[in-house]
Amino acid sequence: MTETLPALKPLSEAPEIDFAALDNSPDSHAVLRDLRARAPVARTPMGIVLALRHHHLDLVTSDATRQIETETKMMQGIFDGPIFEFISAVMLFANGDVHLRRRMPVSRAFAFKLMDAMRPVARQMTEELITPHLDGAPVEFVSQFAAQLPARIIADILGIPRSDLPVFLQWIADTAEAIGFIEPERRPKIEASLVAFGAYVAELIKERRAHPREDFITEYLANTARDETLSEMEIQSQVVGLILAGSDTTRGSMGMTLAHMLTRRDQWDAFCADPDGLKKAVIDEGLRFDPVISGLPRIAVQDLEIDGYLIPGGTPVAVSILSSLRDPAVYADPDRFDITRTDHPRWHPVFGAGAHRCVGEALARAEMEEALATLARLAPNAELVGDFPKLAPGAIRQISPMSVAFKR
Ligand code: HEM
Repeated sequence: MTETLPALKPLSEAPEIDFAALDNSPDSHAVLRDLRARAPVARTPMGIVLALRHHHLDLVTSDATRQIETETKMMQGIFDGPIFEFISAVMLFANGDVHLRRRMPVSRAFAFKLMDAMRPVARQMTEELITPHLDGAPVEFVSQFAAQLPARIIADILGIPRSDLPVFLQWIADTAEAIGFIEPERRPKIEASLVAFGAYVAELIKERRAHPREDFITEYLANTARDETLSEMEIQSQVVGLILAGSDTTRGSMGMTLAHMLTRRDQWDAFCADPDGLKKAVIDEGLRFDPVISGLPRIAVQDLEIDGYLIPGGTPVAVSILSSLRDPAVYADPDRFDITRTDHPRWHPVFGAGAHRCVGEALARAEMEEALATLARLAPNAELVGDFPKLAPGAIRQISPMSVAFKR
């Protein structure tokens, strides 16, 4: 039964924001700051409610909302085919028991210990990738480093040979779009790559079932075998999903954090003087200041209240990560990038909240912290050359190219 809520303001009284206005603004943080000052929520012409404050993360953990399933694909006219099948099979777009059955075998195998063991690997891979560029000649950091590291690490975890890396990187580039908004003309290419990628992972699974090893896939498969309700498509899709969810996110976060650090020389110098002591603080602040995840979209399953506004059941609600990470109720002087701030909440909102909170957080942190600390150690005189990178609008905000001159 739906509770009767006390006199609440209708959504029509909330300010309206066109996503295009947010997207086209040179400073989306300023647009959100203005909105936050006017009301706790905003609405878009498409009927989506944006929840703007940090404490709205509670909406994601509440029973009054649920995760979006295939609705956003159907809204884009995608009702079948490889993209639809993939979205229908991954943990991210599932609810309740279905979500739990898909997530548990992964999260058990993705144990913290395994992720911590990746730290020396991330350090070594960073050295390998950067050492050839220490001559000070500008290098395009995103493609030459930030895209390479997460792909190499996940390939290592999955036991994929180095020789397969180029094709693996191409599949990641083609299929990452499957999660977000799909340009109709890109659909055939994304689907073809998704099919090839799926077949490759299916082969990997087959091989590991025949020849078990002491590794992530073997343990993951043993976990799925204990609960025999997962289909082969589900088993395979979680592996593809992991690879995709961990690629653009880690790439963009590393790039933006490095760019912010290199343009604040005092903070960069402090980091170079104590890379291990400060690596966590640097990543925490980089993830807060320019998050690659714009929001957490959900659907209200019943009428609910957000700070005095009535949100009717059935309304799509997106908790704006972009806005909540600059909420002055939590972060002092939120528009200042400061690696010495002490007001980060224990659970960083950029990794979400509740049942769907990022399963790869420990790996993402291990990669990013070790990569940036290694760069600080190897190239304290590094400089950003040319334009500051930008994050494009979207569910996962894609980083633009950025040139860095690495110098010892
Ligand atoms: C800076 C890097 C990363 C950020 C900011 C990030 C952020 C997030 C967020 C916000 C969610 C929840 C989405 C929602 O509730 O709607 C999520 C889920 C997820 N992430 Fe990450 N992520 C990162 C890296 C990774 C990595 C490295 C992996 C794995 C290799 C990964 C795998 C996943 C998976 C599988 C889910 C779905 C979890 C579920 O639905 O239960 N992520 N991530």
